[in-house]
Amino acid sequence: MLEPKRHLLPLILISLTAFFFYSYYHSSLPPPSTSELNPNFILSNPIHTQNPNPNTPNFTFIIKVLAFNRLDSLSRCLRSLARADYLGDRVNLHVYLDHFKHENGTASFDQKLDESRRIMEFVDGFDWKFGEKLLHYRTGNVGLQAQWLEAWWPSSDDEFAFIVEDDLEVSSLYYQFVKSLVVNFYYNTSNYSPSIYGASLQRARFVPGKHGNKMQLDNTTRLFLYQLVGTWGQILFPKPWKEFRLWYDKNKAKGIKPILEGMVTTGWYKKMGERIWTPWFIKFIHSYGYFNIYTNFLHERALSVSHRDAGVNYGKTAGPDSQLLDESSLDFNILEMHPLSGLKWFDFCFREVLPGRIIRTTDNLESFLHSLQNQSSVFFISLFGVSDTVTRNMLCHFESLNIRNFILMGLESDSLSDLARRGHPVIYVDQFVNSAELYKFNSKGSSFEDIRDILTKVYVVRKCMENRFNAWVVDGNMLFLSTDLFLEPTDTINDFIVTDNLELFYARSSSAAEKIWVDEFMFKVVATANSLASKDSLSHDGLSFVYIITKLLEQKGAKIRRLDETTFAMKIGSSSIKKSSLGDKKLVYWPGQMGMDSIRKWLQELNLWAIDNESSCTAVVCHKS
Ligand SMILES: *[C@@H]1O[C@H](CO)[C@@H](O)[C@H](O)[C@H]1NC(C)=O
Ligand SMILES: *[C@@H]1O[C@H](CO)[C@@H](O)[C@H](O)[C@H]1NC(C)=O
Ligand SMILES: *[C@@H]1O[C@H](CO)[C@@H](O)[C@H](O)[C@H]1NC(C)=O
Ligand SMILES: *[C@@H]1O[C@H](CO)[C@@H](O)[C@H](O)[C@H]1NC(C)=O
Ligand SMILES: *[C@@H]1O[C@H](CO)[C@@H](O)[C@H](O)[C@H]1NC(C)=O
Ligand SMILES: *[C@@H]1O[C@H](CO)[C@@H](O)[C@H](O)[C@H]1NC(C)=O
Repeated sequence: MLEPKRHLLPLILISLTAFFFYSYYHSSLPPPSTSELNPNFILSNPIHTQNPNPNTPNFTFIIKVLAFNRLDSLSRCLRSLARADYLGDRVNLHVYLDHFKHENGTASFDQKLDESRRIMEFVDGFDWKFGEKLLHYRTGNVGLQAQWLEAWWPSSDDEFAFIVEDDLEVSSLYYQFVKSLVVNFYYNTSNYSPSIYGASLQRARFVPGKHGNKMQLDNTTRLFLYQLVGTWGQILFPKPWKEFRLWYDKNKAKGIKPILEGMVTTGWYKKMGERIWTPWFIKFIHSYGYFNIYTNFLHERALSVSHRDAGVNYGKTAGPDSQLLDESSLDFNILEMHPLSGLKWFDFCFREVLPGRIIRTTDNLESFLHSLQNQSSVFFISLFGVSDTVTRNMLCHFESLNIRNFILMGLESDSLSDLARRGHPVIYVDQFVNSAELYKFNSKGSSFEDIRDILTKVYVVRKCMENRFNAWVVDGNMLFLSTDLFLEPTDTINDFIVTDNLELFYARSSSAAEKIWVDEFMFKVVATANSLASKDSLSHDGLSFVYIITKLLEQKGAKIRRLDETTFAMKIGSSSIKKSSLGDKKLVYWPGQMGMDSIRKWLQELNLWAIDNESSCTAVVCHKS
């Protein structure tokens, strides 16, 4: 990619189709003609011929301006909106004017009445030639939360809203940019993601997760995804906004508060309560795993800036937060959109998230391992018979323990697909065992269903060894309490760690281990599993991977450390346990057949239930990365 130049670069129009784009010029190229050099050429010749929206026939854009008592701010805001190029599209302008508060003591009512009247007169007289203009004047003071929430109920999946508080000023380029963005990330199915709830035109500056990362971006990054909502110029997509309104309604009715521990914004909520709306939206976004598109235009530039005028949010005027990016300072192609697959995703800690990693084949696994961060152990979590809720609770513990290198293993399901969308890598075991490379191990031709779990485990361990990763194979019916035992076993004598009565197994990446874990060994594991599977005497929990492996490794004379699970693990569900009896235990576990309600009850008692009623973590825990 070319580095953008500081000075204004020439623009070319490619006008054969109804599309256009800017382009960079390299000094080695022949000089462009003078008409091509005029940067105003495109902008003053909008392409609104017959059909302005060939690819987006039902696309509708509504500007929702939230105003209160600041005429000067509102007039600056509306003028900037009217200066934008709307490409011939019909764009409606809705102004929501909140009522002054009936408080005594401050300015006289007469003054306030007069101010409201002047604002209404101004809006009434304001020339909006792009579509309908509507003024909604409240009868009482509703505050910012209701102003935002009641501003919009999408009338279709093609209606988009741009929410603008009155002290904002937007760039005349904003609409062209937003339109390209929507065409690329909403209407182009290859770049569409149901996780995206909108786009913020403000400059991203704030990380709400406590102890989160500094916001640092590569200066070639123009667009990125970030969970946080931007209140200074936010484009909302219809479907997620409807979901939010319904979610808010439900939670509000049940008296549930938008408390998300570990977030600065939760502190705001505790102070300001229902005067603000962002804690609600943030809790919703966290719960649903959604993201917002942000721009990174460098040099503190953005398409929307807040003047931070004195008012509801600021006691006194704080001045603009960013530089407005306009035509005169444009030194790159603002309409150039990239495939979604090339964008980075960041969570509330500004930590990178990698969504959509679904491993279906042995090749997928190979490239996944190559992409892993430098942590020398990988956890394979077997989710057979583990409920979605229990899995999500486990993932919250992983977040707080900072366990990052793990893969969930289970059958293809909506639940696993949703976890992958949220950034948790997944192996679809039912598809994975059909990889040609795995077929050869099932020479007896028995049903893969009985042994696919074991076949997958034996194979992933081998892949880890080949790629110099240690492998932990663990069961979803256990919960780690600390990482002492797991992250970096210091044992360099033994190549394997097994536990007698737990599905917990460790294979070190060493040449000795690799020499054992060859095809012949894997054939034997599968054959043993097959012969055990054909017996009727299987336990409730099915075949034990650890049991089979331990037997065969012993026959091979492998260096094995046997752990007595009672020294580091605690079983729940039999006798009553108190938090204090956990002592310095490293994990708790429970029988596979234990019901969800019992598991929750036990874990709640031990303070290990880390999810709310919607199965989302009750806290955000940031770690520096
Ligand atoms: C546009 O809206 C009309 C009427 O609702 C509908 O029949 C049509 O299928 C829509 N077109 C697209 C491409 O969604
Ligand atoms: C001022 O407000 C308080 C509380 O709302 C009320 O009790 C009081 O009567 C008001 N005083 C005047 C002069 O309006
Ligand atoms: C981008 O970053 C590189 C390295 O930090 C720096 O040399 C370059 O000047 C930067 N470019 C811009 C446009 O800021
Ligand atoms: C849709 O997006 C893909 C990937 O970015 C791109 O290759 C393709 O040209 C786009 N299609 C249209 C109609 O713009
Ligand atoms: C990877 O981690 C190991 C051990 O923690 C360390 O010695 C090595 O330098 C790291 N490599 C890279 C490329 O960071
Ligand atoms: C969560 O659900 C349980 C039962 O389903 C209920 O008793 C509890 O009050 C709910 N908690 C919240 C915060 O809504």
